[in-house]
Amino acid sequence: MDYRTSHIRMRFSLAGIAVLSASFVLLLPEGRSQTNKRVPTFNKDVAPILFKNCVKCHQLGELASGTPLTSYEAAKARAELIKQKVASQEMPPWPADPAKSLKFRNDPRLNQREIDTIVAWVNGGAPKGNDADLPPLPKLEEGWSHPQKLKPDFVVSPPTDVHLPATGAIRYVRIMVKVPFTEDKWVAASQTKPSNPAVVHHMALTEVALPEGMTPSDVAQLSHQMGFAGAALDTPVVTTPTNPPKPDMLAIYTPGSTLEMYGENNAKLLKGGKNMYIVFNIHYETTGKPETDRSRIALWFARKAPQHQLFRVNGAGETVLANGKELLADAPGIKAEGTAFAIPPIPPFAKNYELTGITAYMDPVTIYQLQPHAHHRGKDFTYTIVYPDGREQTLLSVPKYDHRWQMAYELETPLELPAGSKMVVTAHYDNSKMNMHNPTPEKEVYFRDMNQSWDEMFTPFIQYSIDGQNGKGEAEGAGGSQEQKEAKAGRLGIGEVVGCLEARTDGKWMLTHGSQPALSDTQSTTSAALRQAEARPLSDQRYLLLGVNIFNPSSHRGGKVAVKGVVIPDANETRINVTSLQEAGAACAP
Ligand code: HEC
Repeated sequence: MDYRTSHIRMRFSLAGIAVLSASFVLLLPEGRSQTNKRVPTFNKDVAPILFKNCVKCHQLGELASGTPLTSYEAAKARAELIKQKVASQEMPPWPADPAKSLKFRNDPRLNQREIDTIVAWVNGGAPKGNDADLPPLPKLEEGWSHPQKLKPDFVVSPPTDVHLPATGAIRYVRIMVKVPFTEDKWVAASQTKPSNPAVVHHMALTEVALPEGMTPSDVAQLSHQMGFAGAALDTPVVTTPTNPPKPDMLAIYTPGSTLEMYGENNAKLLKGGKNMYIVFNIHYETTGKPETDRSRIALWFARKAPQHQLFRVNGAGETVLANGKELLADAPGIKAEGTAFAIPPIPPFAKNYELTGITAYMDPVTIYQLQPHAHHRGKDFTYTIVYPDGREQTLLSVPKYDHRWQMAYELETPLELPAGSKMVVTAHYDNSKMNMHNPTPEKEVYFRDMNQSWDEMFTPFIQYSIDGQNGKGEAEGAGGSQEQKEAKAGRLGIGEVVGCLEARTDGKWMLTHGSQPALSDTQSTTSAALRQAEARPLSDQRYLLLGVNIFNPSSHRGGKVAVKGVVIPDANETRINVTSLQEAGAACAP
């Protein structure tokens, strides 16, 4: 070998190392052991993976229609990008941290064998293979994805297309569609779909009743004349058995939503009747060109009444804390129109604005589904349970929330919680320049009722059932007095007490010199209730306080405080799973 050829060879191999990425070097040992293995082909090995896991979004008319992955040519053209997104587990999108979350039955992540197959296909030059091996593209049943390929029993959509302008803000579109049944239906599965996913930011569906003899256009006309929102004239038909009751969300669509199935013993209620309407509340975004959309919901009905009725509510509908400060329910509604809680705006450039929502359960409940929702500043979400014995468990951690794919996380095994448990949802918001989705870091960001995507939202949805209840919301084995029924259902109450806040040596927090609990209907507190609490005398009760760290107890240590929460009686030590903790007077002088 003369000098010239060896020089050329050396240059060639150096260039080769530079071109092949570090991942090639890492893969080498495995590659060697597989030297006898053939390179995977698109038709035989890769298409089945893409067709099963990717094309539901990556095809025309779906969420990622810009990157169709439905043919060899399309996939080959993006082979390197596919390898990168799959190897880094960025695709399919699944923002939950599996190490800090429960198992979810709609977890779409590829297994290692599937990832290795795609990587080896790309590294091997992305060959096409034998056409006879190519599986058919999955047929979506009329666009619906019921796992048993069942046709929906009922599909509803607004009567006409919604036409959107090219640019500008669009107020929420509220369209009512009449329910054509007189009898109640139990919904066993549902799927909500825009015809144009590019423009639907999210939609919420509920059922309402209109006053006798009124039509949606009467309502629209009247509210226009009187200058108030149509919502004031209709009443929600299905409500949660909470106090006060809240409308049950029949369906929520966010990008990434899939079909929901509720299992054999559970269903959601769609009431039949004379003047019932399904309301589509749709938040549209403009794309730069005029667009149209006709969203639809498909429902599959259960053949018989279920054991449990499912309810979907906002997990931030009771007590809310903003940056560690508990908000009073009667705080004047500064800039947060129409919301029960005036969540203070996020200051310009704030990097880590924190919101916490607390909901306690007076009954034994089962949790089925968790669905975080925020807009561009949403950074992370965590759902944690504080059990009535004080134990804490994280159900879902989404460390990198991304509004482009907001999954509904369906628990693989629904989680049964004893009465007296409490759900704590914490989210952080990034209004800084570091957030690449942030349109205006220099602006204050509001939480509004009818808000736009440059405003913010804090709506961590929770789907749950109340155990010990039949599908009609009545205690099972009905009979006996109201108290007997409540005891049978294992129901607890929200209590309100005053006392002195003290830390025990084991780090737990106690209320000493406490008053007897006064029963309350609400989990949060008001300025009026706090004034009353200040006047209330102390007494000789002791309570162990659960899940209290979110209220920053050390700053009230030794002080007189007003505490609300589920009261959990116990022969040794009465516990309170705390939903509100506020100062009620200065020093504690029993
Ligand atoms: C829940 C819907 C969804 C699923 C499932 C999904 N993707 Fe994506 N994917 C998206 C969206 C949305 C984007 C970004 C927008 C776009 O590219 O159209 C994206 C982007 C990508 C990109 C980058 C495109 C670019 O030009 O930057 C690749 C590559 C990709 N996905 C591959 C895959 C593969 C491979 C799978 C299956 C293993 C998969 N995706 C599953 C929604 C999805």
